[in-house]
Amino acid sequence: MSDPVLQVRDLSVRYGPVQAVRGVSLSAARGEVVGIVGESGCGKSTLASALIGLNPPSARATGQIAIEGRDLVAMTEAERRALRGDRVAMVFQDPMTAFNPVLTLGAQLVDFQHRAPLTKAEKRARAAAMLARVGLPDPELALTRYVHELSGGMRQRAAIAAALMMQPALLIADEPTTALDVTMEAQILHLLRELRRDHDGAIVIITHHLGVVGELCDRVYVMYAGQVVEEGTVDEIYHDPRHPYTAALISCDPAHIADRAEVLPTIPGRLPDLTDPPAGCAFAARCTLATQRCAEPPPRVVLSATHAALCHEVRP
Ligand SMILES: Nc1ncnc2c1ncn2[C@@H]1O[C@H](COP(=O)(O)OP(=O)(O)OP(=O)(O)O)[C@@H](O)[C@H]1O
Ligand SMILES: [Mg+2]
Repeated sequence: MSDPVLQVRDLSVRYGPVQAVRGVSLSAARGEVVGIVGESGCGKSTLASALIGLNPPSARATGQIAIEGRDLVAMTEAERRALRGDRVAMVFQDPMTAFNPVLTLGAQLVDFQHRAPLTKAEKRARAAAMLARVGLPDPELALTRYVHELSGGMRQRAAIAAALMMQPALLIADEPTTALDVTMEAQILHLLRELRRDHDGAIVIITHHLGVVGELCDRVYVMYAGQVVEEGTVDEIYHDPRHPYTAALISCDPAHIADRAEVLPTIPGRLPDLTDPPAGCAFAARCTLATQRCAEPPPRVVLSATHAALCHEVRP
């Protein structure tokens, strides 16, 4: 990967004693769609917020997050804000968070383009064109609406339009379809799949739907208890999962993996206490293959140029 848009090295994020993200390294290249998958509480949203420099003030991040070669962790808040307004954009689970309830959609979409050297009329026309692009039926009318007057699916389309208008180098979507019903979810997935054709930046999609990953992503990072426990191409992860956690997720019902409504299957047991994570493998307590060795920190076993797993039991 010669030209990574995003390069994260050994990122850890704590909220006081809670070690939400622990030593995560990952990358995303131009034109690539990368998925981050894992069960509730494993640190996906904390990671996503860190990537855009939006963790709450109580969070402490260490490690490196380079976006187009510039280290976000080392930046001042003002520099991070500038980067967010320009090179990085985020689509949230709840699209209301992207908008101001007391301004019309049109006013906000014009405002989001404050850096563009265009007249107001040109910005409005560009906003209407982008709303049409994401499938809003009457873009001119939508521009005059307040966000709460739109349906959930329309709002999420508008949020995606707002993010794309910035032409970000990195687009991060945290559970972009979770709040939607199955039909809307299918439509938004279809839209994201279309967009990946003409978006030349990198896209990072965070989800607990395995189907979303299969439909949209090139590569996947599987997270467990704040760590990346396996990474690989979609093909490697779906057809040759090596970490027992990934294997458990995938093996539950392979026939349904392609079904976009599929959610992460439940594996017996719970995530470890993140205020005191085990020194060895974090999954050992739930793992059917665990041995005494798993009390030691697991090695990162490299399986191919794109595939690696954090496990004592995995053989190259
Ligand atoms: N603002 C916060 N203050 C303290 N702890 C937090 C905060 N946000 C998250 N956490 C804790 O950090 C851990 C990771 O949470 P996070 O929201 O990143 O997980 P997630 O994978 O996004 O989960 P979900 O799938 O439910 O969205 C959890 O233990 C959570 O309770
Ligand atoms: Mg989350």
